[in-house]
Amino acid sequence: MSEVKILSVSKSFNSSKVLNNINIDIKNGELISLLGPSGCGKSTTLKLIAGILNPDEGDILFDNKSVLKLKTEKRDAAIVFQEYLLFPHMNIYENIAFGLKVKKIPKKDVDSRVSELLETIKLSSEKYKYPSELSGGQKQRVAIARALAINPKILLLDEPFSSLDINLRNEMREFVLEIQKKYNITTVLVTHDKEEALIMSDRIAVMLDGEIKQFDTPYNLYKSPKTKEVANIFGERNYIKGKLINGVFKADNINIDLNNNESYEEIEIMISKEDIILDEAKENNCNIATIAKKRYVGDKTYYEVKYNDYTLKLSSTNDGLEIGDNMSLKFNSHNIKYFCEK
Ligand SMILES: Nc1ncnc2c1ncn2[C@@H]1O[C@H](COP(=O)(O)OP(=O)(O)OP(=O)(O)O)[C@@H](O)[C@H]1O
Ligand SMILES: [Mg+2]
Repeated sequence: MSEVKILSVSKSFNSSKVLNNINIDIKNGELISLLGPSGCGKSTTLKLIAGILNPDEGDILFDNKSVLKLKTEKRDAAIVFQEYLLFPHMNIYENIAFGLKVKKIPKKDVDSRVSELLETIKLSSEKYKYPSELSGGQKQRVAIARALAINPKILLLDEPFSSLDINLRNEMREFVLEIQKKYNITTVLVTHDKEEALIMSDRIAVMLDGEIKQFDTPYNLYKSPKTKEVANIFGERNYIKGKLINGVFKADNINIDLNNNESYEEIEIMISKEDIILDEAKENNCNIATIAKKRYVGDKTYYEVKYNDYTLKLSSTNDGLEIGDNMSLKFNSHNIKYFCEK
């Protein structure tokens, strides 16, 4: 349990800047994600928090005290990597107990702590098995239990689920959330999976090219991204360029009332796939769109429609529309976001 502050941190490798002026504050017991594409500096940030690397500039504080002079083992931050890195010659019990033995904790305290963790990860009956006898998900649970054994103030998870299949991944996400809440442990999760970040995080730091582009709640990041580049991290949307005149967006053959009083000569609106609604076309309806593509994905169907000169992408729970169907089209205008950047 600890607050973490990353203050104006920069880091270069071989004179190429990998992190540029990173600022993140993490509250006690909060789970935040570092989300961004490969190479953007996520693992480097995690290693700086753990003390595996040191920043070139800036400071890192745990509970308002700088930890830069503290070695990794003195920081009370436990890191779990994508590869489980269990000790192959030790059984599960010994793997989890390892950190406690290094700290010379009395045997009976080690026993009770390891038993509690084995129960939490639901592997009490497997404690004499060796890592090679476990499934991927079981190994990952042991790795997390081993990290938690020493009662770390901060749990650092570097893409811990990416090698698991989708069902196991969902199970492990729930498991980590349960443990994280149970022990109220400040957690930083590194992921490049937007869905994982949205599901798990209290807040997400969106990283691109070594910078934090927006640090916000999942809801705000999805609904109100500050820039198009942040919006694009959270999936494909529709963009239309035009002008805004007293709150009415106007482009070729499109008028959408955004219900405000603002005016801009040049803006670009962003419409999410779920904010375009198809309805049965009526005779006198002028907003007619024609289905051009259909992709059924089970719980929803993606359609591409031609609307005037535009091609729009949308998702719908109606899976019964076919290519060539003419539908009337509406926008959830209150969810439309716009950017004035060039
Ligand atoms: N020890 C190092 N020496 C030199 N360059 C490094 C070192 N560690 C990382 N880098 C470089 O720094 C950049 C950021 O690496 P980092 O591992 O932080 O990325 P990441 O966001 O975790 O990517 P991924 O999602 O692929 O794991 C990359 O260009 C990488 O090549
Ligand atoms: Mg990485």
